[in-house]
Amino acid sequence: MIGKLNHVAIVVPDLTAAAELYRNSLGATVTDPVPLPDHGVTTVFVELPNTKIELLHPLGEDSPVQNFLDNNPSGGMHHVCYEVEDIHAAIEHLVEEGARVLGDGKPRTGAHGLPVVFLHPKDFCGTLVELEEVKAA
Ligand code: CO
Repeated sequence: MIGKLNHVAIVVPDLTAAAELYRNSLGATVTDPVPLPDHGVTTVFVELPNTKIELLHPLGEDSPVQNFLDNNPSGGMHHVCYEVEDIHAAIEHLVEEGARVLGDGKPRTGAHGLPVVFLHPKDFCGTLVELEEVKAA
């Protein structure tokens, strides 16, 4: 059911420092910071040949990543995002399998403007999993 790894998200305490680390130490292509107020994060995208790394930093109050940063002050891996072709079919299958879809269980528009859902980490080996609907080209 899942397809490509779309991205791995890492929450960081200092977005500029993290971007420089990926750019200078790791020699990666890194975008400018992109504020996403609707999602409560500012994002830097690290563009790799086969996937992306998203560096996330809280933006505004009630950021969904603030608690994570409070618990992990030096930052840490936050979630992995897998692509699915049909997010409604994926949700139906997962619920049948006993997995918990976070929030109201319905897809919402994610950071890339595509439908996403998050799955409970306790159901997936301690890892927060995001599914993003990406139609086959
Ligand atoms: Co994500």
